[in-house]
This record gives sequence, structure tokens and C-alpha cells, in this order.
Amino acid sequence: MITLDEFTIQQLRNYPQATGELSGLLRGIGLAAKMVSKQVNMAAIADIIGEQGETNVQGEAVQKLDALANQTFIKVLRNSIYCAGVVSEENDDIIVFDDAKNNHSKYVVLMDPLDGSGNIDASMPIGTIFSVYRRVSPLGSPCTMEDFLQKGDNQFAAGYVLYGSSTIFVYGTKRHSVNGFTLDNSLGEFYLSHPKMTIPAAGKTFSFDYKYYHCVDEPVRKFLDACNYSDNGKDGRFSCRNAGCMVADMHRIFLHGGIFLYPARKDKPYGKLRLMYECNPMAFLTELCGGNATDGMQRIMDIAPDHIHERSPVFIGSKKIMEELTLQHLI
Ligand code: AHG
Ligand code: MN
Ligand code: MN
Repeated sequence: MITLDEFTIQQLRNYPQATGELSGLLRGIGLAAKMVSKQVNMAAIADIIGEQGETNVQGEAVQKLDALANQTFIKVLRNSIYCAGVVSEENDDIIVFDDAKNNHSKYVVLMDPLDGSGNIDASMPIGTIFSVYRRVSPLGSPCTMEDFLQKGDNQFAAGYVLYGSSTIFVYGTKRHSVNGFTLDNSLGEFYLSHPKMTIPAAGKTFSFDYKYYHCVDEPVRKFLDACNYSDNGKDGRFSCRNAGCMVADMHRIFLHGGIFLYPARKDKPYGKLRLMYECNPMAFLTELCGGNATDGMQRIMDIAPDHIHERSPVFIGSKKIMEELTLQHLI
């Protein structure tokens, strides 16, 4: 049994030049995740269900738990001294931790503090997604917009936390594999439970909200029809599984294979999901695990971002299903 902290510290042994900053940063994210996990479990009795009464930069109603998770992550990261600044789905602009210690941190973090907010009141799964970059501005100065507006390919680490039937912390780094840790609530520690994760090349599920079937492009509809196709008059090829929370849907795909789609729609030509803190981190983990991620035209992590809150269509998952999608020129 090895804890998240022990695991990240042990990784340092493999890289003599490592400073331990990433371990410190991940420890901070793990701590914030434990705090949010507790808030999620208490939500219905701690008056943190429902809307906050504000609209965020995405034009979406902010839930109380969105705001609380956001404050929790920002506060912990600011205190951790391993992060120079943050971009969050819930804040219009970049947040610069402009103080003597944080200005010397080499990492910046982009995050969706609470993914799947629509699930909160029904006690359905929700999550957190994060992406870590090495800053490009000089150490010792406050971080800048340039540090955040990097291609997904430059991510140094990424991960997610799933607040589901158990709380699971999954992260991967450029240098290392993807590993998952399960929270032991009694000890308040994440323990390694899913070592060296890989995505099965094939899979049995696709994740799509059929509400949008009629407003996606024809080729995507054809692909969906192919997913439902039955050659025996009984079962379709795949089961449709859509939790309404990308983290939960992707976690299932990491374990069992499959594909997640949030395509462009007539009313939303760039889809809904945000490139920098939803698509990129999931694409990074997916590729590390042997899968693929595209916006239909190009690899997600090749997209040069224009702004921190931009959206992107996304098709992501098991290698063989993604190949099928591409081979058939469906996207
Ligand atoms: P968020 O709660 O951070 O805004 O993200 C929710 C995302 C994603 O997790 C989910 O798959 C998708 O939105 C659901 O989209 P619809 O609102 O179109 O159902
Ligand atoms: Mn989200
Ligand atoms: Mn969110």
C-alpha cells in the first residue's frame, strides 16, 4: 500500500535533477481534492446544493459547489508555494499569485474545479480536471498570459479527481505513466489503486448525449448509427453510457475502453467543452494511456489556443474506435 505523497516522492529517485516541486504541487491538489470530496459528501446537509446566483464567463449558472471547489483549489494552490498562477473555468481572467515565493514557482495550473455541476443535486458523479504547464516567463517575476496559452502538447502533467462511489485521483506526467489513487476516508489518504493505467484498444461503450443527435453533423450521426448497429437483430455494437460528467465518462473509458464525443452542434460550432482545462488534460492522459483525441480536424494537443476559455469539439478514447472513426472519414 503506497500513498499518493509517497508515490510522488519516490518518483524523485528516478530523476536526480528533479526539485520536488511537482510532488509539492500534486500534494496540494490532493489536499484540495480531499477537502472538496468532503464538501461533496456533505452537500445536501451543509446547504451547498443549488445555484450561487451568479453567471460565469461561460454564461453558465454557478452552483454553490462550483464556487466552493474553486475557492478551495485556489486557496490551497496559493498556499502551496509550488504554483505561480491559475486559470479556472470559474474566473474570467488568469489569477496571478504575485508574491515572493510563488513568483519563483515554475508551474502554472489550469483547472475545471467542478466538472459535471448538473449532477450535484442528484448525488451523481462529479469531478475536477487539472492541467500543469511549465511557465515560459522568467522565474522570479509574476506569471503571464503566455504561460497559460500553450499547446496541450506542452503539458507537463495532468489529472482528474472523480467524486463518485469512491473518490479517485488520477494523474500522469510527461515522463511517467498514468496512475490512479483511491481515497481512504478514514485515514484521509489517497492509496495507489490503479497502477500504470492503459486504455483497452477496443471497448464496448460510447458516451454521447442523444439530446444533440439532430444538431450534429451528418458524418457524426452516421458514426453514432454505426455504434448502435446490430448485425443479429438484438444487441447493438456498443452500449451508450453518458453520466453527464466528462470525468466519470472518461474514467470508465480509461478502465474499460470506449469513446467519448462532444461534437460541434448547429448552435455551438465549437461544442461545449473547454480546450484548456477539459479537452487538453483528458487528451494528455488518453495519449499516455495509448488512446487518441481529436477535434475532428486535428489532434487536440496540437491546437494553438487563442484564449483561455476557448471551446473545442472533442472525440476521445480507445485507439481502434478512434481509428475507425477516422478511417471511415466520418470526422
Ligand atoms: P461543467 O460542469 O464543468 O460545466 O462541465 C460539464 C460538461 C461535461 O462534464 C459534460 O460531459 C457536459 O458538460 C454535459 O454537457 P451538457 O450541458 O450539454 O449536457
Ligand atoms: Mn466541466
Ligand atoms: Mn466546471
